[in-house]
Amino acid sequence: MANEATSAAALHPETRLVHAGTLRSQFGETSEALFLTQGHVYDSAEQCEARFLNKDPGFQYARFSNPSVTMLEQRMAAFEGAEACRATATGMAAVTAALSSLVRAGDHVVAARALFGSCRYIVEDHLPRYGVQSTLVDGTDLAAWRAAVRPNTKAFFLESPANPTLEVIDITAVAAIAREAGAKLIVDNVFATPLFQRPLELGADLVAYSATKHIDGQGRCLGGLVLGSKELIEGDIQTFLRQTGPAMSPFNAWVMLKALETLPLRVRRQAVSATVVAKWLKGRKELPHVAFIGDPDHPQAEIIARQMSGPSTLIAFEVAGGKDAAFRFLNKLRLIRISNNLGDAKSLIVHPATTTHQRFTPEVRASMGVSDGLIRLSIGLEHADDLIADLQQALAA
Ligand SMILES: Cc1ncc(COP(=O)(O)O)c(C=O)c1O
Repeated sequence: MANEATSAAALHPETRLVHAGTLRSQFGETSEALFLTQGHVYDSAEQCEARFLNKDPGFQYARFSNPSVTMLEQRMAAFEGAEACRATATGMAAVTAALSSLVRAGDHVVAARALFGSCRYIVEDHLPRYGVQSTLVDGTDLAAWRAAVRPNTKAFFLESPANPTLEVIDITAVAAIAREAGAKLIVDNVFATPLFQRPLELGADLVAYSATKHIDGQGRCLGGLVLGSKELIEGDIQTFLRQTGPAMSPFNAWVMLKALETLPLRVRRQAVSATVVAKWLKGRKELPHVAFIGDPDHPQAEIIARQMSGPSTLIAFEVAGGKDAAFRFLNKLRLIRISNNLGDAKSLIVHPATTTHQRFTPEVRASMGVSDGLIRLSIGLEHADDLIADLQQALAA
């Protein structure tokens, strides 16, 4: 099987997303093949043994690796500028694998408190069950990161922009504090997308994605990706994934591999529409607060200018009147559908306080910036004017 030598850093990201990582079979197919197989056969027992000793290059079993999954991993690594990448069954599997691989019982993790509900569960509830303590800090407060460090701190974890508030953290500054502490920094880059933010270049050690979101981009398959140095990815993370089993299915990998070809087109277009919609929302008197990464009035606009090259496709806004008003507004929408997913071609909207952040107490939600009137809107590929018309009629009602 020939590997296309097109992952060279000299190529533009768009080109890498179309060509990098392609493994062509003996049939010379133009479009990447879907290798829907659990395993592989060997010419001899000796070859099988050599494969298990990593002395013979090739595939063994789809829990470890699969040609369609490998193509996705190689293409994503080339896009992100990472030495290595591993695909997982979901975004949460990627986050769990990254964190679990860096720590042992007796270690300590520091994380930003404004996190997606399941990410916060891993840090706050899951790791402590296995003897890994954690401290949650205001991620925007660099002194708080510094003060939380203990001699046994091994990992820092953050989302920037955070789900759903779009709070932004200075990744370069937090990476420097982590390095000084001897800890590794993991960045969940879902909201930024790989197109608009490159955490590894900003000093992070690992970057994790829910590929379910913009990478698939059309609401079909679950998936996750974790990227970083060969040492980290092909060491403890690879072992964790191989032995515990959260492998991405070859079918999902194939869908995402093909989706990567159009990621820049989709995400740039969605970001342009999000900019138009956010500007319109900001002008509504019914909405006391509108957060958007591309807004020059965003409280962390200076950090955004330094570390992001685009505005994300998400908007967070507050409806005056709390949960009742938020529900009335959501129920009036006709085109924009209520869904807890995001990054889809279809615009999707959700009330985080009763869904993604429902399990927290009102006090904890308040500390994360998730109020009862907060709404998260993911902009899709529809025409911005149609989205505005839908928002307008729902707000009027
Ligand atoms: C920021 C963030 N990280 C991780 C995840 C988890 O991804 P998945 O649903 O693919 O497990 C999500 C899902 O919404 C998310 O928004």
